[in-house]
Amino acid sequence: MQTYLKGRDLIGDLDFTKEEVETILDVAFDLKRKRALGEEHAYLRDKVLAMLFFFSSTRTRGSFEAGMAQLGGHAAFIESRTTQISHGDTETEMGEIFGRYFDGIAIRHVDWGIGNRYLNLVAEASRVPVLNMQCEYYHPHQCLADLMTIMEKKGRDLRGRKIVVSWAYASSYLKPISVPQSLILQMPRFGLDVTLAHPKEFELMPEIMEQAREQAEKHKTSFEVVDDMQDAVEGADVVYAKSWGPLLTTRDQDEGKKIQDQYKDWIADQKLMSLAKDDAIYMHPLPADRDIEVTSEVLDGPQSVVFDEAENRLHAQKAVMALTM
Ligand code: CP
Repeated sequence: MQTYLKGRDLIGDLDFTKEEVETILDVAFDLKRKRALGEEHAYLRDKVLAMLFFFSSTRTRGSFEAGMAQLGGHAAFIESRTTQISHGDTETEMGEIFGRYFDGIAIRHVDWGIGNRYLNLVAEASRVPVLNMQCEYYHPHQCLADLMTIMEKKGRDLRGRKIVVSWAYASSYLKPISVPQSLILQMPRFGLDVTLAHPKEFELMPEIMEQAREQAEKHKTSFEVVDDMQDAVEGADVVYAKSWGPLLTTRDQDEGKKIQDQYKDWIADQKLMSLAKDDAIYMHPLPADRDIEVTSEVLDGPQSVVFDEAENRLHAQKAVMALTM
């Protein structure tokens, strides 16, 4: 068991080894138990996390903020637009200065070609850990909560289980590709066979696909890509159907919307769920386009684990913070 994670950044899903992720999960399950029993777990007393947001959030903000308080510390909510970043504070300055005030810096920045670079530049200049609250490429804390949830529902040994990561139609906005990318990178390491399904315009980044294939090969799991949602879901244990933008095809919002609108029948409904195993679970990181991306029948139905999944953000992130800060 790898236990010394002090000072480490978590920006990409593969930044931590599988053994280190197992440590995070062990601690997350323990913290969940402690919270349920009302046992004190103030491992970060007097420590302060900066939470710098360049994009809106419900769950990520709530869970990091509550998590820091439960660990005996404090989280400072900082919206980029209320800072001097637009007036010239550079990434290096933010890393240097916030690194001197805070004990950790968590950042959400999903702008294409900018967010991940921003996090890495802040991390280079910072003396404290930088935690990725979602960039355009990765959503690692969501993925840890997802893994924790799957283990709770299907057991800790996931070898031979099938997860389908499927694109679904949404009308609200072109959602980042970070969730499916994190899933295909992390899930093979824990024994899950991964099927990725999407229309042709919704490809993920070639370098991430290559890394996902490498992980599947290394951990002797399967990784397949299909262009049909129904075919993909056949025999699945986990159906993770959500929307993402055609960002490798176009980053023009209007053109992307036109492409997206061709695939309105890619919806997670009860008919789709009936193709999966009887005890299959439905997952979504939320927010969802209700009755567009997924039907209310599925989202609110017995196979949906979305609230447990959202809760586990709290426990997984507390584990990362307690271990790294
Ligand atoms: N799943 C997730 O990251 O939710 P928020 O965008 O509300 O933080």
